[in-house]
Amino acid sequence: MCGIVGYIGYQQAAPILLEGLSKLEYRGYDSAGIAIRDGEHLAEVVKATGKLRNLSEKTDEGRAIPGTCGIGHTRWATHGEPSKTNAHPHVSGNCTGSGSGAVESEVVGVHNGIIENYQELTDKLVRQGYSFYSETDTEVAIKLVDYYYKKYKIGPIDAIAKTMVRVRGSYALALMFKDHPGEIYVARKDSPMIIGMGEQETFVASDVPAILNYTRKVYYIDNLEMGKLTPGEAVFYDLNGDVVQKELTEIEWDTEAAEKGGFEHFMMKEIHEQPKAVSDTIHSVIHDGKIDLGEVGLSDDDIRGISQIYIVACGSAYHVGMDAQYAIEDLSRIPVRVELASEFRYRKPILDPNGLVIVISQSGETADTLAALRESKELGIKTLAIVNVVGSSIAREADNVFYTIAGPEISVATTKAYSAQLAACYTLALQFGLAKGTLAQDKYDEMLAELLTLPEKISHVFSDKERIQWFAAKFANENDIFFVGRGIDYAICMEGSLKIKEISYIHSEAYAAGELKHGTISLIDNGTLVIGVLTQKDLYEKTVSNMVECKSRGAYLMGLTTYGNYSVEDTADFTVYIPKTDEHFAASLAVIPLQLMGYYLSVARGLDVDKPRNLAKSVTVE
Ligand code: G6P
Repeated sequence: MCGIVGYIGYQQAAPILLEGLSKLEYRGYDSAGIAIRDGEHLAEVVKATGKLRNLSEKTDEGRAIPGTCGIGHTRWATHGEPSKTNAHPHVSGNCTGSGSGAVESEVVGVHNGIIENYQELTDKLVRQGYSFYSETDTEVAIKLVDYYYKKYKIGPIDAIAKTMVRVRGSYALALMFKDHPGEIYVARKDSPMIIGMGEQETFVASDVPAILNYTRKVYYIDNLEMGKLTPGEAVFYDLNGDVVQKELTEIEWDTEAAEKGGFEHFMMKEIHEQPKAVSDTIHSVIHDGKIDLGEVGLSDDDIRGISQIYIVACGSAYHVGMDAQYAIEDLSRIPVRVELASEFRYRKPILDPNGLVIVISQSGETADTLAALRESKELGIKTLAIVNVVGSSIAREADNVFYTIAGPEISVATTKAYSAQLAACYTLALQFGLAKGTLAQDKYDEMLAELLTLPEKISHVFSDKERIQWFAAKFANENDIFFVGRGIDYAICMEGSLKIKEISYIHSEAYAAGELKHGTISLIDNGTLVIGVLTQKDLYEKTVSNMVECKSRGAYLMGLTTYGNYSVEDTADFTVYIPKTDEHFAASLAVIPLQLMGYYLSVARGLDVDKPRNLAKSVTVE
């Protein structure tokens, strides 16, 4: 979703902004733009639709626009189609909405988020004589700042504060004012933004990778805070205009972790990083050979007091919740509900006061998940966040945090973060079981030992890569793919199906195998690919029967099962095997061939694997 980069210092800003924006490409975007100031001169604005290279070419890699202060933006359209006019930066005046060049405007800015009451504010500003050149909510926010700035003849911070009080919605804003050369102003509510500090230079970014090449020292701006940035300095303010003191945080991710490291795509690199992500995440809560959740705020006494668990998340993180539900319920007998964050927040949830809400999020910035977390906190329920990005909004707001140790994930389609989240959930399930007395010590020891073998078993699945690649190439022109499975296998199907459709654009659906007869089977035709997931012993025969029903209607069957279940070959036309493990942990291994399949289908179809169309890595709007 929209990416923001800003720079103020002694170097030329435009090349730094373009480089930073390229590091944020993974967030998803459809157009880009920069605004640069050269000393006292007016800001030069340049925008381009499509890929960032269009903007780079237009500006001769940034060399064509001199200046040491600037802001840049990649836009993921919400209000208004993707176009040059709607691309950011936006300006408070009427000029150069779609064009390039120096702008007379008082305020120039970029925005990530959604201004919910933009229509009402537009009407207000029109009454005050403003006119609008774009369809964006951002232009309204910029013009509102301009309105207060001029009406009350106040400084930028006060004008921004008045705007913040008036707008509803979410925003990360970076602004430059004509009368204040050499300064960038920022403000934030519910959209991610960090400030990076260097020697005599200051950076703004939506996410860490954009500035890692320059600095690892960052400030996190909190909700409803503003900042005034000058070279090497940042002063923060609250809504009253009072100065807020902040601690500098050191980012531990290294630059290499955000590079492709010899792989053709980030997704393949990240698939291969899964053994380490899983191992690091599990080991982060193991002390003296036992799981210790003390650091994530869950003592055994706390666990014994939990009577209900709610797992709330979006996308793949929601699928992790589906998997975790089976493991936690089975091992600890604590009832678990898994909810889509976007639904949870609006259904006036009735929560058990002794419940625990677990929100799962790679980015820690997903708007709906963040809102669900806040809703739970307001209802007085204890919250635990499983998050990958340190210092993200969800991590900062949850009562307790279990950090997955997956490192930066760049490919839009998640792989290693999903696996690390699963691993985190397995450790919870085991410890909940032990603390509740529903999992005997010897079984716990056995399962913990098994959990520790997962990284090696994941690596083993990679050895089947070529066969999966061959199979994907054979089905690259398929129109529909169906997944069937029961229980944990159904949860695996959901993630496998999502992996395939999001990057290959092949329509795919996951079905609880028992539901097939209630409608879906009418979609099965000659040659339709049906993938049966069969990792659960008790459900194996039942799912095989459902696969046979598909075969009788012409389906081509792929089976995904564990070594030893060779009888599947009597039914399936093609089979992929994964190593044996405890059935509760099967998703960790079974997802790998499906990730590989999605990857190879996407490559075979010549698609942009890491940046699939219309998708964003971090969905910071509802
Ligand atoms: C986006 C991503 C998905 C991700 C989902 C939730 O849709 O493309 O891969 O699962 O958001 O993101 P989160 O950062 O909260 O895990």
